[in-house]
Amino acid sequence: MSENTSRSVDSNQSGIHERLADIVMKHLSSSFKRPFADHSCRVFDKIYAAVRDRDGPFILDACCGVGDSTRHLAKEFPDHLVIGLDKSLHRLSRQRSGTDPENMMLARTDLNDFYRLAVEADLKPARHYILYPNPWPKAAHLKRRWHGAPVFPSIINVGGCFELRSNWDIYLLEFQAALKLAGKTSELCLIMPEKPITPFEVKYQSDGQPLWQLTAEL
Ligand SMILES: C[S@@+](CC[C@H](N)C(=O)[O-])C[C@H]1O[C@@H](n2cnc3c(N)ncnc32)[C@H](O)[C@@H]1O
Repeated sequence: MSENTSRSVDSNQSGIHERLADIVMKHLSSSFKRPFADHSCRVFDKIYAAVRDRDGPFILDACCGVGDSTRHLAKEFPDHLVIGLDKSLHRLSRQRSGTDPENMMLARTDLNDFYRLAVEADLKPARHYILYPNPWPKAAHLKRRWHGAPVFPSIINVGGCFELRSNWDIYLLEFQAALKLAGKTSELCLIMPEKPITPFEVKYQSDGQPLWQLTAEL
């Protein structure tokens, strides 16, 4: 990676976190046993029923925020059900113009529960997106990043054609290193979307920040 890459994320890390491998290995060799919230189980049951009723492939748009990417993906993949998930009701309820495509749904849930429930139920998306997750750029917050969290093995095990985007290259380099520890290869590149598909992508692109993409077959 170029030394001159402009970084707009303010972090006290200049490269991959020195404790990344220890933390990821610990999570890969143990199971995350936090009890599921009742609300998460109810939402999961609804999603499971919707996928089964439709009887076709589905796409997971995790951390979908206001759901713009979910709407975009639903138009791009009309034969898939696209499920946008976020924990923020405030974001999910934000009014957007136009009518939502019929092949999408948005739901409020904690992905720390959803991923584990999906793995338990063998509910496997054809595609899985995490677009611009919170970067948690302070080194002390490594365990809040998806690859540093105990749910990471379930993110891998849920499977699918996976895509992660961020304006912070270190986030993706760490995710790639974490996948490698789990025996998975991935591709990392700079992207310049012709048409940004999320509000964060719109903002970062208009600020002239580099946008990174990691893809993997999980
Ligand atoms: C930086 S925003 C990006 C939103 C959207 N993808 C975009 O690009 O505009 C990150 C989103 O992740 C959601 N999020 C963070 N942790 C979550 C969790 N445990 N479960 C569900 N959503 C979560 C937040 O509520 C927030 O909407």
